[in-house]
This record gives sequence, structure tokens and C-alpha cells, in this order.
Amino acid sequence: MELSLGLAKQVAVVLKDVGQVQLREFRRSQVVQAKGRNDLVSEVDKACETMLFERLSILGPKAAFFGEEYGFRHGASDWCWVVDPIDGTTNFLHGLDMFSISVGLCYKNEPKLGVVYRPYTGDLFLASEGQGAFMNEKLLPMLKPKSFSESLIAMGFPFKSEELYQPFFTASAEVLRGARDMRRCGSAALDLCFVAAGTFQGFWECDLSPYDIAGAIPLLKEVGAFTWDLQGENYVLGEGRFFIAGNPSLMEPFYSAVSPSYKSFFSTGQK
Ligand code: IPD
Ligand code: CA
Ligand code: CA
Repeated sequence: MELSLGLAKQVAVVLKDVGQVQLREFRRSQVVQAKGRNDLVSEVDKACETMLFERLSILGPKAAFFGEEYGFRHGASDWCWVVDPIDGTTNFLHGLDMFSISVGLCYKNEPKLGVVYRPYTGDLFLASEGQGAFMNEKLLPMLKPKSFSESLIAMGFPFKSEELYQPFFTASAEVLRGARDMRRCGSAALDLCFVAAGTFQGFWECDLSPYDIAGAIPLLKEVGAFTWDLQGENYVLGEGRFFIAGNPSLMEPFYSAVSPSYKSFFSTGQK
């Protein structure tokens, strides 16, 4: 079944409505729970996921639904909506405007259609397989060649996993040595959309979940970006702890800077 950009636009309408709810609550005091160390969830996350479930379930092919806060909601199907109601909850709760709503529509675990919306600025990213990627209705061009030395690299800290501090900081030192600079924005979905838009040239993080990246992967694919695992193979959603993405022209030096410290860490059998 071929998906259409029309469906992506219908999803975008839903995300804009959900974004209104988030903006109403932004910088107001929230009811918050900790799911684990440094892993927060607010009533807004939950309410928005329910809204997404109700509104997305009636769009597109008959699909299962998987969200960060409630897990699987219904149905076994080869199609699945993979949804993060707020990507960047820590930012949202601290009053920092870098947060997004991320929705990927996957077929057999492969994201085919993605929409990511940043409520505070109104930036909208969407893509459907084979039909291009768009930022604010403008077609994103294929990524142009860039050298690693002129790249701005985004990443996510291993803020939940102390055992990853050492490989992370070793990798960061190598990136700082080879690239222009690094950024940590706090929404992996937005980081990846910015890679697709050519703002960042690469991104890496460990221990991401499918809902962190499913919405952005179709955009990356449409502009020719690479998404790799620790072995430098194409990344399969939900498999492996290590994820790296970037402009194809600098992927080799970028991957060579980041991966060795993780390879030696994981080869010692530490999990
Ligand atoms: C988080 C954000 C953050 C990344 C974390 C994610 P959440 O998602 O994407 O940038 O570093 O790994 O868990 O918890 O805000 O939905
Ligand atoms: Ca997330
Ligand atoms: Ca989230």
C-alpha cells in the first residue's frame, strides 16, 4: 500500500491541535511523575498521547498504535503508528521551548511516513516514502556534500546510564577534535529533522526508543541521510543500543570518531 503526502498532511493537522494543548500548559506548573531516574512524565504527555490515539486511529490504513506512555493500545497489524506525545519532556517541564510531537507510521517496523511538529515555533517536518521530505511545506533538497571539519554535530547525553559516560565522553572528544562543534537540544526527533534540513550534519545517541526517532527517519531517508547501528549497518528500528545518523559525505569520518569507544565498551560484555 502506498502512503500519500495527503495522509502526512492530515497527521500534521492533528499534531497542530495537540500542540495547542501543549502551548496552553507550557510554563505552567505540571503534575509530574518519575518513571525512572531522570525520566519524567506529566499529565500533559498522557493527555496528548490519548488525543493522538483517538485522532490517528481513524486515519490511514488499519494500524496498531504504540505510544511512549501507554505502550500498545490496540490491534495486531503490519502497520503501526509509533508516537511520542512530547519528545523533550525535560525541556517542556523546565520551560525550554525545544520540544516536539513525533509520529511515525511504520510497516513491519520500518517507518514509511513521518511527521514532527514543534509547537513553540510552528515548525513542521513531514515526509512520506518516495515523495520527498518537507519543512514548513518547502521541499527539502538532497543533502549536499560537506566535510566533517565543517560539520555541526548533535547528540544526546547518556543521562540515564552512568555506565555510558566513559564511551560517550571519549567519543565526544573525538568529535570535537574533528568537527566544528556539538549541540545537545533535548529532542531527538527535532535533532534528526535538523539533520534532514541540513542544519546539523550528524547525530548520535544510545538507548533511544522507537518513538524517539520513528517520526524523523522518513525525512532522513528522503534527503539521502544514512542511519547506522554500531556495526555501520543500516539501523533497524528497536534493535541495538547505538544509533548514528548523518550526511552521507561525512558519515565515514563521523562514524570513525564516535564508534570505537562504544565498540570497546560493548565488547567487554557490559550492557
Ligand atoms: C528524550 C529526548 C532526548 C533524548 C532522550 C529521549 P523524551 O525523549 O528525545 O533528546 O536525549 O534519549 O528519551 O523522554 O523527552 O520523550
Ligand atoms: Ca522521546
Ligand atoms: Ca516523550
